[in-house]
Amino acid sequence: MTRAADLGHLQHEHWQSTYRAHPGMYGDQPSEPAQHAAGLFTTGGAILELGAGHGRDSLHFARCGFTVHAMDFSSDGLAQLRSRAREGGVSGRITTTAHDVRTPIPLRDGSVDGVFAHMLLCMALSTAEIHALVAEIHRVLRPGGALVYTARHTGDAHYGAGVAHGDDIYEHGGFAVHFFDRDLVDSLALGWSAPDVHAFEEGGLPRRLWRITQTKPR
Ligand SMILES: C[S@@+](CC[C@H](N)C(=O)[O-])C[C@H]1O[C@@H](n2cnc3c(N)ncnc32)[C@H](O)[C@@H]1O
Repeated sequence: MTRAADLGHLQHEHWQSTYRAHPGMYGDQPSEPAQHAAGLFTTGGAILELGAGHGRDSLHFARCGFTVHAMDFSSDGLAQLRSRAREGGVSGRITTTAHDVRTPIPLRDGSVDGVFAHMLLCMALSTAEIHALVAEIHRVLRPGGALVYTARHTGDAHYGAGVAHGDDIYEHGGFAVHFFDRDLVDSLALGWSAPDVHAFEEGGLPRRLWRITQTKPR
């Protein structure tokens, strides 16, 4: 088992080198949850995407007419996102910030209309860090704004496999994942609308995920 602070540092290095070695690794098409969220968020609103990577979903939101603030702790991933945004003619609608979600989100209270995070909350974050992050998301969302996030769950084939770091975090092929159970989903929705939980799969493994939608009360 690696100390939590060291695991976070190692994961940062791992994601940087992964994006350098495999530019655009998730492809150009938007994910299923991003397509869902684009239909749910207020048209033309300000979206914050956390864990945006090289931006397949941020670019989709921008093409749909949203303004997007894309954050990720990988500056290499974000550089690829900016270059694709320029090529696609949507850079005027996208801002990027290199940001580690284990620290407070650098945005004002109530300043965004929607928050999207695909496979970010289930990274190498402790349960306490995930709760602190969802509290930060609640702070920056306007009342009535929606959070759409996804997480790999305990029904995933990699749950329990590889190096165990405690707190339901397992590392496989260098990628550490916090596998969610339903109690964690429900506890993260306290103070929000009841969570809408949709099961889906992505990729060849396949990864088994939940897409969760919850709204900040008005
Ligand atoms: C599984 S990838 C998903 C990328 C993107 N959402 C997509 O689906 O194309 C997870 C992303 O979270 C980022 N990430 C992991 N831990 C993070 C942290 N503590 N703070 C910010 N970003 C983080 C990684 O750099 C990576 O881009």
